[in-house]
Amino acid sequence: MISVKRLGHVTLTTPDLQRQLDYYQTIIGLSVIDQTRDRAVLATKLGLETLVLQRGDTASLAAIALQIAPGTELSAVGRELTGRNIPFEIRSGVTPGIASAIVFKDVYGTPLELFSDYAFAKGERQVVGIMPIKLGHVARFVDSARAGEQFYTELLGFRTSDWRTTVSVFMRCGPDHHTINVFEGEKPGLAHIAFEVKDFSELQRACDVLAGNEFKLDWGPSRHNIGHNIACYHKNSDGLRIEVYTEMDQMKDETLGYFEPRPWHEDMPQRPKIWPMSTSRNYWGLWGS
Ligand SMILES: [Fe+2]
Repeated sequence: MISVKRLGHVTLTTPDLQRQLDYYQTIIGLSVIDQTRDRAVLATKLGLETLVLQRGDTASLAAIALQIAPGTELSAVGRELTGRNIPFEIRSGVTPGIASAIVFKDVYGTPLELFSDYAFAKGERQVVGIMPIKLGHVARFVDSARAGEQFYTELLGFRTSDWRTTVSVFMRCGPDHHTINVFEGEKPGLAHIAFEVKDFSELQRACDVLAGNEFKLDWGPSRHNIGHNIACYHKNSDGLRIEVYTEMDQMKDETLGYFEPRPWHEDMPQRPKIWPMSTSRNYWGLWGS
């Protein structure tokens, strides 16, 4: 089985590349590490590539890049895909940090770029904008959550963290509670991308950066029940929903089977489960329930 280790970057199309570059550089605090007329690659100040922006007609998700174990031969992944009748291609020069990737579509038709070896971008010390530590998860609206769970767990080695009844599923590929999550009930497409910040004080600073630049929150900050991350949401200048979060549940050892205990957990220990539809989305109160 293919075993995904972490989320790399997402590729987003945008009708206004320059405006999006301004937003991700000055508000989110990413650095442009490669740019052509129609495409730019952005990384965190810590050297993790998080985003490829491409000129396009609409603002939408074009691809998700996922890392597998360094040193893995992409041809071995290709044999696995061939065995499952999944067409693929090997692409080289994907980004400055990804020399080659194997590209195929997931069950929702989103291209996935699997890469094994990654070269960090040069880090930077200056403080600009929110400055996340990484791109943490990608959330999508889909027709079938069950189909996504089957694809990501059976083919790519994800584990199921939680279900909300049968309509949304949260899946992890490392200690973080979710890296890929999908929701039924709205028109299929990107729901949000989420940037992780170091701690709650950084989330507070992020809220001030956003408000000071006229990006008002449309939800939060609040603590989710599923995943227990403290999260705030706003829409960027392309109308895409962006989450900034911290304190997400951690499954530090898969063999133990529970998330690292926290004082705000409903269950002790907190294990993956099916939450009822009545579950509030805000542990701290009624807003957003
Ligand atoms: Fe999220």
